[in-house]
Amino acid sequence: MRLSLGLKLGFTYLVLIVLSVAAFGYFTMDFFQQSFLDEKKAALFTHANILANSSAPYLRDREQRPYLNYLARNQAERVGSRFLVLDRTGLVMADSAGDFRGRVLSHPEILSALKGENAATPYREEDYGWILYLAVPVYSGKQVTGAVFVSADLNPMVARLDEIRARLLWFSAASGAVVFVISLFMGTYLTRPVKRLIVAAGKIGSGDYGYRIETPPGKDEFGELTRVFNEMSTKIQAEDNIRKRFVADASHELKSPVAAITALLDSCPRKEACSPEEYHEQMKDLRFEADRLRNLVEDLLVLSRIEGNQGQLKIEETSVGEITEAVRKATAPMARAKGVEIRTVHSGDIYWPLDGEKIFRVLVNLVDNAVKYSPAGEKVILGFRVKDERLYFYVSNRGAGIPPGEISNIFERFYRVDKARSRETGGWGLGLAIVKEIVELHGGDVVVDSEPGGETIFTIELPKLT
Ligand SMILES: Nc1ncnc2c1ncn2[C@@H]1O[C@H](COP(=O)(O)OP(=O)(O)OP(=O)(O)O)[C@@H](O)[C@H]1O
Ligand SMILES: [Mg+2]
Repeated sequence: MRLSLGLKLGFTYLVLIVLSVAAFGYFTMDFFQQSFLDEKKAALFTHANILANSSAPYLRDREQRPYLNYLARNQAERVGSRFLVLDRTGLVMADSAGDFRGRVLSHPEILSALKGENAATPYREEDYGWILYLAVPVYSGKQVTGAVFVSADLNPMVARLDEIRARLLWFSAASGAVVFVISLFMGTYLTRPVKRLIVAAGKIGSGDYGYRIETPPGKDEFGELTRVFNEMSTKIQAEDNIRKRFVADASHELKSPVAAITALLDSCPRKEACSPEEYHEQMKDLRFEADRLRNLVEDLLVLSRIEGNQGQLKIEETSVGEITEAVRKATAPMARAKGVEIRTVHSGDIYWPLDGEKIFRVLVNLVDNAVKYSPAGEKVILGFRVKDERLYFYVSNRGAGIPPGEISNIFERFYRVDKARSRETGGWGLGLAIVKEIVELHGGDVVVDSEPGGETIFTIELPKLT
C-alpha cells in the first residue's frame, strides 16, 4: 500500500500521542490511586485508634457490651464505615452494623492487630466491589486486650478514579484526532514542492528540456532543490540545443558534397559519354569531393569521441619537441604544395604531462589553418616555451588575418569567416572547434591575436596536470 507523506506523518504522531498519553495516564493513575488509599488508611487508623482507646476500659466486662456497641455505632455514623470491637479471642463484642455480635472473626488484619500490629488491606469482593479491611490493637496498659476492626467501602474512590481515567482517554483520543488532521494538512503542504518536482522531472523525461518550476523557490531545502533543478534543466536545454544544431549543421554540410558528387556522375554517367579530358577532369573532382567528405566524417568522429569520453585524457610525460617535429612533418607536404615554409622554434626540448595524440591534433589543425590562410611564399612558425609552470604553444602566420569581430565565432562548429572560399580551402569550420574542446579538456586556454592583413598568432596555454 502506498501511503502519502501526510498519512505517514499522521500515523506517526497518532502513535506517539497515544503512547505518551498512555504512559502518562498509567503513572498518574497509579499515583492517584496510591495517594487516595494512603489518605483513606491514615484517616481510618486515626478513627479506629480513637475507638480502641475509648473502648479499652469496657472490653473485659460483658455488662458493658451495649455501651461498646453505642461507641462503635457513634464512630460509624461520624466516619461512614463499619466499626467492630473484638476481644482478645477474636469474639465480636460490638458491631456498628449489629449482625456480627457473638461471632469469632479471624481475618488476617484482626490476627495482626491481636499481635499488636496495625494492618490494612484492600480487597475486591464479588458482591461488594472494593473494600478496605483495617484493624488496630486495643491496649490495656501494655497488654493487647482486643482489636478494633473497620471495613470501609472503597467503591466511591474507585468510581472517581475511573472517571479520571475516562477523561484522560477522551482527551488522548481528541488530541490524537486533531494532530492527525493537522499532520495530513502538513503533509500536503510539505509535499507540494515535491509534487511539482515530480511533474517537472516527468516533463524533462519526456523531452521538454527547458521546463522550469515557476514558483519562487523558498529558502528551505525544497527551495534549494528547486533552484538546482531549474539550473539543471537550463543546462540540459543548452546541451540539447547544441546537439540539435550540430546535427542540423552536419547534415546540411553533408548535402553539398553529396549533391556535387551526384551532379558530377550525372554529367558523365559512362566513360564513353564524354571525352577523355572531360572524364579525367570529372574523376579529379569526384576524388576532391570524396576527400572532403572523408575529412568531414573524420572530424565529426573526433568531436564525438572527445565528447563521448569527457575528461578521459591519456596524460603522459611527453617530449614536446618530438610532437612539434611530428606536426611539422605531417603538414610539410601541404605547405610545400602551397609554397609556404614551416619553422619550428624553441630553446630545447622539454617533457610535459599531456595527451600527446590529442595535442598533436590541436597543433596540426592550427598549422593547417596557418598554411591555408597564408599567401604563397610566407613562413609559418610553430613554437613552444615554458613560463610560470605553464606550457605555451604558438602558431603564427601572416595573411589576411581574422577581423576582430569574428574572433569569438571562429571556435564555433562549422563557422568559417569567408564561406565563399570554403571550396578553395577545403575546410569545414570544425578544426578550431576540435582545438578548443581538446585544450579545455586539458584545463588550458586558447588565445587569438590577429592583425587584419598582418600577423595572426594562436597561443595555447596548458597547465601542468598532475
Ligand atoms: N590563421 C588564420 N588566418 C586567418 N583566418 C583563420 C586562421 N585560422 C582560422 N581562421 C578562420 O577561422 C575559421 C575557422 O577555422 P577552422 O579551422 O575551424 O575551420 P576551417 O579551417 O575553415 O575548416 P577545417 O579546419 O574544418 O578544415 C576559418 O574558416 C577561417 O576563416
Ligand atoms: Mg582549420
